[in-house]
Amino acid sequence: MAATFPTQLIDGFDRRISYLRLSVTDRCDFRCQYCMAESMTFLPRGQVLTIEELLRTARLFTELGVKKIRVTGGEPLIRRGVEELFAGLGKLPGLDTLALTTNGSHLAEQAAGLRDAGVRSVNISLDSLNPTRFEAITRIGKLNTVLEGIDAAIASGFERIRLNAVILDGLNRDEVVALTHFALSKKIHIAFIEEMPLGQVNLGGKQLEYVSSDTIKSELATYFELQPLVSRDSSGPSRDYLIAGSQTQLGFISPHSHNFCAECNRLRVSAEGRLLMCLGNEESIDLRDLLRSGRSDDEIKSTIIESLAIKPERHVFDRPDEPQIVRFMNATGG
Ligand code: GTP
Ligand code: 5AD
Ligand code: SF4
Repeated sequence: MAATFPTQLIDGFDRRISYLRLSVTDRCDFRCQYCMAESMTFLPRGQVLTIEELLRTARLFTELGVKKIRVTGGEPLIRRGVEELFAGLGKLPGLDTLALTTNGSHLAEQAAGLRDAGVRSVNISLDSLNPTRFEAITRIGKLNTVLEGIDAAIASGFERIRLNAVILDGLNRDEVVALTHFALSKKIHIAFIEEMPLGQVNLGGKQLEYVSSDTIKSELATYFELQPLVSRDSSGPSRDYLIAGSQTQLGFISPHSHNFCAECNRLRVSAEGRLLMCLGNEESIDLRDLLRSGRSDDEIKSTIIESLAIKPERHVFDRPDEPQIVRFMNATGG
């Protein structure tokens, strides 16, 4: 007799899991200082989930009640076969929202195709509007390519486009107003992110401090009228405000200063197929092994359901006595 499965994943703290973040590669064409070391060793290709494995994973999760999938990286748009992946994801029954987080470097060529495949929401990293500084932060990136990518995304008509800016003191803190004006001028959204200490990242020899969202918000409130918004489609980490008189939403993602774990609705699959219970903790199961060892769909689904028991209650980034998580952001996809 076929097994029956719940149509909603629920973890040990009664949180409903309806959102999967799927990292499709750990590679990237940038080397952002807060994300990677300058010289990175990437996973051998054989250790990264294949497009078929990614699609099977996505299907199994949607059968278990996942309604939103955000594709992340590294940089997802440099993954070979990514068009086939999006085409397959876009056809999954039960999926309400297909989303992408990208550095924007390949959006100029790919935006229209992504929209056609069914991508609804695109988050694009943009930490500076100064080309020299942009290149310093990303170590390689060209600002112009990303600006062209942003324009291509706008022209393609995605339902939701948001810029992501990680703000660090001494690096780009002085640009929060200019970045907000830029988002307003493009009629898109923007989120300011407190840097999370993942992996062992050396910020050019200097210790750069994250800037608390409250500090940035107070500063922005002197320039813009911010109207609080009740949470939107999925309970994400971003606390959003509408800039009065515009359609631009301003978000704050504050892993240090405002813990959002109580409402966590997400799981993530790393590029090498680890099902990670939390971005800020190491609890995981080896999904790749299950996918490659001939297990049936039902067996894998049962293991996923059981694994939710180890999803931790919260992340802790500010305890110096705790062991550092040795996992770079690019392997997890944020
Ligand atoms: P939505 O899907 O619209 O909620 O977007 P998002 O903000 O979750 O996605 P995005 O990929 O743009 O990530 C923005 C920032 O949020 C990155 O710095 C992520 O690392 C961070 N982030 C996303 N999910 C989590 C989470 O569960 N915990 C923590 N600590 N940070 C997260
Ligand atoms: N802390 C916070 N956000 C980060 N990102 C990358 N590394 C970090 C970090 N250490 C962000 C990127 C991208 C998103 C996926 O994660 O800016 O927008
Ligand atoms: Fe690449 Fe994004 Fe990491 Fe920058 S933050 S190196 S763009 S994965």
